[in-house]
Amino acid sequence: MSKESSSTTFSDQLPPLKSLKDLLDPSQVSWEPSDLQTYGKDWSKHLKAQPLALVFPKSRQEVQTLVRWARENKTALVPSGGRTGLSGGATATQREVVVSFEKMNRILDFNPVDQSVTVEPGVITETLQNFVREQGFYFPVDFAARGSSQIGGNIATNAGGIKVLRYGLMRQWVMGLEVVTGSGEFLQLNHGLIKNATGYDLRQLIVGSEGTLALITQATLAVTRPPQEALVFLLAVPELEGLMKIYHSYRSQLPLLAFEMFTDKALNHVLKSSGLKAPLQERAPYYVLMELEQTSDSVADQAMEILSSALEQGWMVDGSLAQSPQQARDFWRLREDITEATAFAQPYKNDISVRISQVPDFLRQMDSLLTQQYPDFEVVWFGHIGDGNLHINILKPESLSPEEFLQRCKSVDQQLFAMIQKFSGSVSAEHGVGLVKKPYLEYSRSPAEIQLMREIKRAFDPDGILNPGKVFDP
Ligand code: MLT
Ligand code: ZN
Repeated sequence: MSKESSSTTFSDQLPPLKSLKDLLDPSQVSWEPSDLQTYGKDWSKHLKAQPLALVFPKSRQEVQTLVRWARENKTALVPSGGRTGLSGGATATQREVVVSFEKMNRILDFNPVDQSVTVEPGVITETLQNFVREQGFYFPVDFAARGSSQIGGNIATNAGGIKVLRYGLMRQWVMGLEVVTGSGEFLQLNHGLIKNATGYDLRQLIVGSEGTLALITQATLAVTRPPQEALVFLLAVPELEGLMKIYHSYRSQLPLLAFEMFTDKALNHVLKSSGLKAPLQERAPYYVLMELEQTSDSVADQAMEILSSALEQGWMVDGSLAQSPQQARDFWRLREDITEATAFAQPYKNDISVRISQVPDFLRQMDSLLTQQYPDFEVVWFGHIGDGNLHINILKPESLSPEEFLQRCKSVDQQLFAMIQKFSGSVSAEHGVGLVKKPYLEYSRSPAEIQLMREIKRAFDPDGILNPGKVFDP
């Protein structure tokens, strides 16, 4: 990253920016166009990034200095982690300064008595998972983007992923936070305590606030003992109805770690892009990838009994238990590689949820809506069906321009979200609201709730400099 080449003209045109270089070491500031494009957006590819500059603070003090600078210069800041978000929460579209946390990436402390680990926000999820495993513990928030997502981003979006039904969301693992608010105030929230009944839990307000209230400078996270070895199953399911029947049979009797689904269309894309072989003899419209914790010797036998009974009842047509760690990893790839395998078609993404008891009804209605409304588009869906969360991906036909494609998808969204509202579901289960889902927030949150969120934002960020325009408008 070089700055000097483009700095003269750019900073001359924009005097306040020039002063950024007085605040930080020159190596921590950039306005190189290629850097701005890389760091100015996340994975929500339909948005155009237009940041003013990019900064890499290395300490809490530098974050505080940047916030004060932003207030004085009336310039907005967009916090940026691993940029794996899918709702544009970390995209700078309005000439903001992007604050990348990648240089604040130290693991600061591990405490086996408290069963906690304290980190800077730029630590990569997988780095943390590996570190904790080396200490004999386990950090369970996990998803396909583990290799590049960062802890700060996971907290800011209340990340979910593949183990939610057993371990919950990111917020359950946040024991303490240190943050700098939009007014430049440094707050230490909850101090790693388990019990703390002293009023509003501001820590939990920051979790999921998508960088609109404060910038996270440090986090203390809980860890747990590692699960027993997992049994990994892949099941082929002929009809939608079968998915949740299988789920209930296993969930009511055995310790489920994960229960994911994907369609045959999704499988086709992964097989094509990965070179993996079809995993089962039978193909079916739907597949379930299920992990069970082997808490006792009887789990495997019980699991096989349920499988035989599900086969007899026609809920599934084929099923296989991974026979080796390699086969288990290959089964997981069939689910986790879907996002990358479909990326070529610039999918329009929805990430929705309903209560688990409503999933069968919702799936039926959603399937008929999507078949009716998208007769000519390929619709690929998959998701964390065990916690009521589905990812719907509409692939762009080559013949359509991105603009026409977006317009078509957005018109179907109105109907899909109206249906979700009827189910009291969520228009964004785990990807966040950002810019992409902002127009639809009212399908999941009432006007009174949104108004309260605005007032909370004003209390934390009176000048509106932290990620403005994300989640809701002022
Ligand atoms: C996933 O579950 O794989 C992620 O949420 C990514 C996606 O929805 O594309
Ligand atoms: Zn997901």
